[in-house]
Amino acid sequence: MTEVSVRPRTSSHDLPVSPELAAFMASGWAPSPLPHDARVPGSGLTPARRARLSARFPGERLIVPAGEPRVRSNDCDHRFRPHSAYAWLTGLTGEEQAGHVLVMEPDGTRGHEAVLFLRPRSARDGGEEFYRDRRYGEFWVGRRPDLAEAERLTGIRCAPLDDLRRLPPGRDAAHDAELASALSELRLVKDVWEVSQLQAAVDHTTTGFEDVVRALPRALTHPRGERWIEGVFDLRARAEGNGTGYETIAASGAHACVLHWTRNDGRLDQDDLLLLDAGVETDTLYTADITRTLPLSGRFSPVQRQVYELVLAAQEAGIAALRPGASFRDFHRAGMKVIAEGLADWGVLKSLEGDLYRRYTLCGSGHMLGLDVHDCAQARSDAYVDGALAEGHVLTVEPGLYFQPDDETLPAELRGIGVRIEDDLVITEDGARLMSGALPRTPEAIESWMGALLDG
Ligand code: GLY
Ligand code: MN
Ligand code: MN
Repeated sequence: MTEVSVRPRTSSHDLPVSPELAAFMASGWAPSPLPHDARVPGSGLTPARRARLSARFPGERLIVPAGEPRVRSNDCDHRFRPHSAYAWLTGLTGEEQAGHVLVMEPDGTRGHEAVLFLRPRSARDGGEEFYRDRRYGEFWVGRRPDLAEAERLTGIRCAPLDDLRRLPPGRDAAHDAELASALSELRLVKDVWEVSQLQAAVDHTTTGFEDVVRALPRALTHPRGERWIEGVFDLRARAEGNGTGYETIAASGAHACVLHWTRNDGRLDQDDLLLLDAGVETDTLYTADITRTLPLSGRFSPVQRQVYELVLAAQEAGIAALRPGASFRDFHRAGMKVIAEGLADWGVLKSLEGDLYRRYTLCGSGHMLGLDVHDCAQARSDAYVDGALAEGHVLTVEPGLYFQPDDETLPAELRGIGVRIEDDLVITEDGARLMSGALPRTPEAIESWMGALLDG
C-alpha cells in the first residue's frame, strides 16, 4: 500500500466512508489490464534520445521531472501538461504524468540506466485512493498503468514514486542549467517522426483557421467577436489534439499592434483586419504556430493590401534565406532589409541607417518550433541564435508590421494597422519545406479562400 492510498485527498464536502462501505469497495473488481501491445507513440525513438543525453553527462545522475500539478483553487488543479524534456525522453505525454520523474542513474560504464519513478495504478484491495482521492483516484481522474504496464508502454524500468525519496539530494543550480541547456540543444534537430507530428499539428491548425473563417458572420455580430474566434479555434484544437500550444491571439483592428494580444475581448469591425495567431498541439505535444491576417470584409482595402504585401515580400525574402549552414539570423536580416527599404520608399522611414525601422517591427521574426512553441529556448546561443541552421530544424518565419494607433510618425491611414504572416518550415537537405502551405498567403489567394469558405 502506498502512502498516497493511506491518506486520500478528499475535500471538505466529501461524505465520510463507513467501515462497511470501505470493505465492500475492496473486492468484486474484475481484472482490466491494458492491451499487451500498447506502447507510447514514438517509443522506439526514446532509447536513442536518452543515449545522446547520457553521452553528455558520463558518471552524473540526471533527474528530469515531469513537473508538479498547479492548484487552481482548493481541490481543483489546472490541467497538467508534462515538461517537454520529460515527454521527449519518455514518450509519456498525458495528464497522469503529474509528479512523475525520470532518473538516469550512472551504470558504472560511462552510460546510464533510466528509471521512471511513477505513481502506479492504485490498488483496489489495499486502500481508498481509487474511489476517494480527488487528485489521483482512478474513479475521479482515470486509470494509470501499473508498474509492469508502464514498463511495457515505455520500455523503461519503472519504480514506485515513493522510492524516489530514498535517493540522495541532487546537485546545484548551475548543474541544473547545464542539463536544461543540453536538453534544449539535443531537441533542436527533429527526427522524421517528430516532423510528422509537427505536420499533423499544422494540418489541424489549418482546419481550425478554416473553422474561424466560416464562423466570421456570427463572430461579427457578437460584442466580443475576438473571444468568439478564440473559442472556435480552441474547440478545434481540443477536439483534434491536446489543445492549443499557446494562448490564441485573436486581434482585430489596432489590437493587432499588440504582439501577444490574448485578452481577445474586442468587437470585430467589417472594415478591419483580423490577426489570428494560433496553433494546435497534438496529443504527442507538438505544436504549430501560424499567423494569418485576414480582412474581415473578405476583401483587403488598398492600404491594408499595401501593408500586407510588404510583410509578405519580407516573409518571402526570409524563407528564401533558409538552408542548412545559413546563419540562424540570416532569414531575419533578409526580411528586415525588405521591410526597412519598403518603409523608406513610403517615406515612413527617413533613414536606412541603424535599426530605427524596429519601431514598426518590434520583435524578431522567427524561432524554433517543436514540443514548445518557443522551442529549445535554453540552448546556448552558439547552438541556436548565433549558430547555423541544420537539416531537421523546424522553425517559424513571421515578419510583421505594427503601426500603433497613436504613432505620430505615421500618416493617418496607416495608424492602427497590424499585419503578421507566420509560417512553419522544416530545413531540408538543400533548403526548406513550407509545412503550412495549405493556408493561403497572397492577398488574392486569401480573398478567394475566404470567399469559398463563406459561400460554402
Ligand atoms: N505565437 C507566438 C509567436 O508567434 O511566437
Ligand atoms: Mn511564432
Ligand atoms: Mn505565433
